[in-house]
Amino acid sequence: MAIPNTVSQRADYTFKFNRHLGRHGWLRLTPAYSVKLVEEILQTVPPESRVLDPFSGTATTPLCAGYRGFSAVGLELNPFLVWLAQAKTDHYRASDVHDASAAGRDLAERLRRGRPTPSCAPPIHNIERWWDETELAFLCALKGAIGQGQPDDTKATRLLLVCFCRLVIKLSNAAFNHQSMSFKQKSAGSGQLQLLPDEPDFVSLFKGELDEVLAGARDNPPTVPEIVQGNARDMAAVRGRTFDCVITSPPYPNRISYIRELRPYMYWLGYLSNGREAGDLDWEAIGGTWGVATSRLSEWERSPDGFYPPYFAALLEAIRHASEKNGPLLSDYVARYFEDIWLHLQRMRALLPTDARVHYIIGNSTFYDVLVPVERLYVDMLRELGFRHIEVRTIRKRNSKRALYEFDVSATSG
Ligand SMILES: C[S@@+](CC[C@H](N)C(=O)[O-])C[C@H]1O[C@@H](n2cnc3c(N)ncnc32)[C@H](O)[C@@H]1O
Repeated sequence: MAIPNTVSQRADYTFKFNRHLGRHGWLRLTPAYSVKLVEEILQTVPPESRVLDPFSGTATTPLCAGYRGFSAVGLELNPFLVWLAQAKTDHYRASDVHDASAAGRDLAERLRRGRPTPSCAPPIHNIERWWDETELAFLCALKGAIGQGQPDDTKATRLLLVCFCRLVIKLSNAAFNHQSMSFKQKSAGSGQLQLLPDEPDFVSLFKGELDEVLAGARDNPPTVPEIVQGNARDMAAVRGRTFDCVITSPPYPNRISYIRELRPYMYWLGYLSNGREAGDLDWEAIGGTWGVATSRLSEWERSPDGFYPPYFAALLEAIRHASEKNGPLLSDYVARYFEDIWLHLQRMRALLPTDARVHYIIGNSTFYDVLVPVERLYVDMLRELGFRHIEVRTIRKRNSKRALYEFDVSATSG
């Protein structure tokens, strides 16, 4: 498929566009796609349509759909993202916002007067690379204070935890928007709980986060989307329901692990307690590649029911033989990715009435200079499942040097 050379790296079609858009900007996560892109697609969706995102991540699609009054469902595997998506899409009454504001200001005062005994830091490997001692002490104290005196599941507590997550990242030493997450150099922490004169005022930073989050909480979508935890491979969590429109961005076959970026939040909020759990969850995720997920892949075998047209089988062979060391593993990685997506698409198809429209936002990838034409494979799988009016729109270039692009593959169910 020829790509016009006018296609550029459009930052407005990435998560960067969402930063100052109320709830959409609550937590800056690179897997999120652009509100602008989703809005453009939603403009083409007939009113009363039931919208589904089976890989809903940070809930960009359900939240956009909810603001436009569509009934919307988001399905997501990662329990932290389910929690975040529910927090972002929920309805907050004025009293919820008031309670969060009062509790936030109260705990800020308590922290300013004298920090309570810090609760334990989470068991993150080499945690001192993420936060220096002073930052860590503050985060521990803040996390402990949020949990004090109120149940975890009130809407006010949830909003405070969103503020906490924002501070976790604001204070972090890690450069997040990078595949091989790196750590900035910082001077060693003082080890004291008192602030040094040149250190930022953490309490004020927290209050700043609180103001921003509460402004978003006041802006309720007219329709509250439903966020469901489940696996898009089997779609069991939404079986028996029907949808008129799917707008989604599944993982790409590019070895980027969502767990990798989400680890700090997941450890702090208790969704992970060791690396083994992270690897197990990534093995469940489509395209996962973290820790134990990689060693399990070496034992994985292709299914006779997979989707392997001849050109795909040939490029899997090319990857396999491109490197003696990792070629076989990466070839299986790509094969497993498409077996999973094939399973997903078959189950997805069963939930769609005739004339439902689907949009899959996906990116291509390369392994040892072998280009995997991801968009072509999606087209061929959709065709095989009886979809009509299949279109491929190139959205943006993902990389200045290589031929990596993002596409919207859309189709109508037959
Ligand atoms: C590209 S991200 C989607 C981001 C989303 N569009 C947003 O704006 O936040 C892909 C998502 O798919 C989720 N995922 C991966 N495997 C899954 C599976 N088997 N079932 C459901 N969700 C899965 C990942 O956890 C990740 O959140």
